[in-house]
Amino acid sequence: MTEPLLTVHFTEADASTALRSEARAGLTDHPKWLSPKWFYDARGSELFEQITTLPDYYPTRAERAALTAHAAEVAALTEAVELVELGSGSSAKTRLLLDALTVGGRLRGFVPLDVSASALRGAADAVATEYPGLAVHAVVADFTEHLALPTADGRRLVAFLGSTIGNLLPEERAAFLKGLRDLLRSGEFLLLGTDLVKDSEVLLRAYDDPAGVTAEFNRNVLRVLNRELSADFDVSSFDHLAVWDAKREWIEMRLRARRDMRVRLDVLALDISFAAGEEMRTEVSAKFRPERVREELAAAGFVVRRFWTDEKGLFGLSLAEAVG
Ligand code: AVJ
Repeated sequence: MTEPLLTVHFTEADASTALRSEARAGLTDHPKWLSPKWFYDARGSELFEQITTLPDYYPTRAERAALTAHAAEVAALTEAVELVELGSGSSAKTRLLLDALTVGGRLRGFVPLDVSASALRGAADAVATEYPGLAVHAVVADFTEHLALPTADGRRLVAFLGSTIGNLLPEERAAFLKGLRDLLRSGEFLLLGTDLVKDSEVLLRAYDDPAGVTAEFNRNVLRVLNRELSADFDVSSFDHLAVWDAKREWIEMRLRARRDMRVRLDVLALDISFAAGEEMRTEVSAKFRPERVREELAAAGFVVRRFWTDEKGLFGLSLAEAVG
């Protein structure tokens, strides 16, 4: 195999700076909030993998079903020579696309992009081994802050799957999509995975499973802060909460303090307090209607060429072309 290239735009030091400033901003705000970015240390990533196998957490399976059914069409319509995957990690879905794009014989390069260098190295090595002849160039970057792609000498397909875009707030989403459009040439493609608006019972169950895996995942962010910011959150004194915001059409995960607490964050030289019952937002997971996906993509300079869902209509896949 050819050794994968690795470009680093986002270092451990950058991550630590970002965590410090975002934690300070969120924990001193009213109401308090934290960015979902910080869930994914080794344990958090493991817990998320576990979530994707839960009976109630349908998005991963639904998206995989849609991709399985339509990957060949994606390949035929895009004729991409390079696959860029934002927030890669979900290796099974990557392989569906790589296989489909290889069959036509056009694919030459794979560019996985993620904030986690360790996750990337593993994924890049595995793909390079399984697809000999494919040039793999891994990029460590925080694509919500600064997106940079290596130059390509042919048409690219950027895959942004898993409904990760739903973690961004509407203004952040708009800025992200515009930034991505600016990096692409007209005629290049974005394959975007978006979870769809549906019955709130179904949504809430997906974010509050009876086995409590999602609750552990949610509380894990406090363990990350304890470790990285020398904080003393009493993790077991926070309850997991999933709330459906019907107006904004998003799920919010929150942590609710069971009792009055003071928390010290040594690295920030910050003391904060929680009142019993106080809720802190830890994640927004937006749900989409097909029409809104189309509008948001159009506003950023993309035209949706195909919109697919799984057979149950739970999850959407948009194949959008950069235009103008
Ligand atoms: C990885 C952001 C798509 O929002 O569904 C799973 C994360 N949070 N359960 C999602 C998550 C709670 C997931 N994303």
